[in-house]
Amino acid sequence: MATRAAVGAGVSRRHLLQGSALLLGGGLLVRHGLAGALCRPTQADILGPYYRFGAPFLATLAGAGEPGERLVIDGRVLSADCRTPLPNALVEVWQANSQGLYDTQTPGNFTERGQFHLRGMLYTDEQGRYRLETVMPGRYPVPPNLPELERYAGITRPAHIHFRVMESLHVPVTLQLYFAGDPYIPKDPWAQAHPDNVIELKSEAVGRSGVFDIVLARGL
Ligand SMILES: [Fe+2]
Repeated sequence: MATRAAVGAGVSRRHLLQGSALLLGGGLLVRHGLAGALCRPTQADILGPYYRFGAPFLATLAGAGEPGERLVIDGRVLSADCRTPLPNALVEVWQANSQGLYDTQTPGNFTERGQFHLRGMLYTDEQGRYRLETVMPGRYPVPPNLPELERYAGITRPAHIHFRVMESLHVPVTLQLYFAGDPYIPKDPWAQAHPDNVIELKSEAVGRSGVFDIVLARGL
C-alpha cells in the first residue's frame, strides 16, 4: 500500500491542479480551503459495452503471469469535501488485456456467464485507500453495430481502466481512467470530455504507477 503522503498528493494534482496555478504558489496550504471552485466530484462517464455484472473480489487484478507492462494505481475514495476518506467504499474495475481484448466478445451482454478475467471488486480500507495491481490495458477499436455508438465504430480507444465506485451515503460514480500522453486521447470523445480522469504515470523499477483519487458526491 502506498504511503498516505503519496496518495494524498494525488488530490492536489488531479482535482486542484488548475486552482494551484492560479494561486501563485499557494499550493497545498489552500488545497482544501476553496471547496467549490477547486474541489468537485469525480466526473462520471459511460458504463461502456464491456461491463459484466458479478465480478469477484480480488486482491490483485492481474496475476504475475499476465502479459503486459505492470501497472499499480493507488488512490483514495473521498467524500465531497475532497478530504474525508470513505472506508468500505466498493471499487469495481474492469479492463482490456495488453492486446486490447476483454474477457468477452459479446459487448452489451452484461450478465454473460463465464470466467472473469481482468475485472474484480475491492473495498477501500479504513483510510479510504485502494490499490489496483494490474497491467497496462491495451487499446482497442470501438466495435461496429453497437446501439447509439455506430458513429464511433472503428475509433481506437486510448488505454483506459473502467471504474464503478459506490458508498452507502454517496452517489455512485462510473468512470474511465486514462493516462496522460496517450496519443489516442485527442481523438477520443470520452477521454476528451473527462480531463479530470486523465492521470500522469511514472516509471518504476518494474512497470509504471499512478495515483487516482475518486471524490463522491453526497447523497443528501
Ligand atoms: Fe473499455
